Amino acid sequence: MDRVRLGIIGLGIMGELYAKIYSAHPLAEVAAVCSLKQARVDEICARFAVPYGTTDYRQMLRTVDLDAVVVATPDNLHYEPARAVLEAGRHLLVEKPFTTRLEEADQLLRLAAQANKKVQVAFNHRWLAAYQQAKSTLASGKIGQPLAAYARKNDTLFVPTEYIAWAGQTTSAWFLSSHDIDLVRWFFEQEPLEARAWGRKEVLKARGIDTYDVIQAQVRFASGAIATFESAWIYPNTFPSIVDSFVEVLGSSGHIHMDRKYESIEVSTATSFTYPKGFLNCEIFGRVRGAFPFCLEDFLYSILEDRPPQVTALDGRQVTAVLEAIHRSLETGHTEPVAPLPADMATPYARK
Ligand SMILES: NC(=O)c1ccc[n+]([C@@H]2O[C@H](COP(=O)([O-])OP(=O)(O)OC[C@H]3O[C@@H](n4cnc5c(N)ncnc54)[C@H](O)[C@@H]3O)[C@@H](O)[C@H]2O)c1
Repeated sequence: MDRVRLGIIGLGIMGELYAKIYSAHPLAEVAAVCSLKQARVDEICARFAVPYGTTDYRQMLRTVDLDAVVVATPDNLHYEPARAVLEAGRHLLVEKPFTTRLEEADQLLRLAAQANKKVQVAFNHRWLAAYQQAKSTLASGKIGQPLAAYARKNDTLFVPTEYIAWAGQTTSAWFLSSHDIDLVRWFFEQEPLEARAWGRKEVLKARGIDTYDVIQAQVRFASGAIATFESAWIYPNTFPSIVDSFVEVLGSSGHIHMDRKYESIEVSTATSFTYPKGFLNCEIFGRVRGAFPFCLEDFLYSILEDRPPQVTALDGRQVTAVLEAIHRSLETGHTEPVAPLPADMATPYARK
């Protein structure tokens, strides 16, 4: 195989970006797309010269010869299409979070092992240069043993009220902190043990969107290292960036602070002052470049070179397990255990 024949399920904000990046990539061919509305399917087929479009992903999986399929449906709707992709014997690239229910994540993990197919979860922040530098600095031992981390991802109100239509079916933690939980677990190389979380429901609930405005969670890892994950999506829309985002790791002999609120550029016009985002994806000389397209490209390499993806189903499952414990804690008001991996699955990070 010299090119990967891809299908895409879900043609919203992210699905369109997948179609744009993969249709321009020399190692990929977008052979089929699927979304709920036929008009949207037709639009994407025409825009990116995709030969097959449907509103029924099961029909797409039965009809079209595909090597791999992207699942870019809303957070709480990844499981059914992801399961169908693996049952059809195709490699899977699934948007974050892997699933929003732990038993679904465990089921996908088993299916992927049985089908012997690649599963990559699109935790695209691992491809950002600053986070790669943090990872190698930690590995060098220069900041000592990681003791604690603090991660913030706070969006403007625009995101849950205008940008996505399904904020009431997810939470800020699933949508935002999922990235940070993956990063911190990757930095610590430790499995999470327990979580305690607090949240507030005021602003969005008053607007008819029944979800948390803000969640703060603390997670303790096997080494004793602790991490705080904050996610909110009620900053006023006057904030100069769509997201205020940073991760800090405190080690026994140093610290690392990665700040993405400001990505090198500020723009003031007669009516606005903004920090435009460009590190994840940015059009450069007619092509989309940045951490997100690199994440997509590495999925192709994992298939073409037959090696494990950089972010596996197991990584996705562990993030889902932490988030499931966080949401349990929000309801019970207690510290909740993070469900360990099923006994037949290997723990990726040794309990040091
Ligand atoms: N919006 C972002 O900035 C962003 C960034 C990174 C990751 N993500 C993740 O990507 C995923 C998709 O987010 P989005 O913003 O593109 O959402 P979106 O609402 O823009 O798009 C979702 C699409 O899925 C389609 N869909 C739903 N059920 C389907 C089904 N059964 N079959 C086929 N299509 C179906 C909908 O019709 C819609 O077109 C989410 O998990 C999200 O967390 C979003």
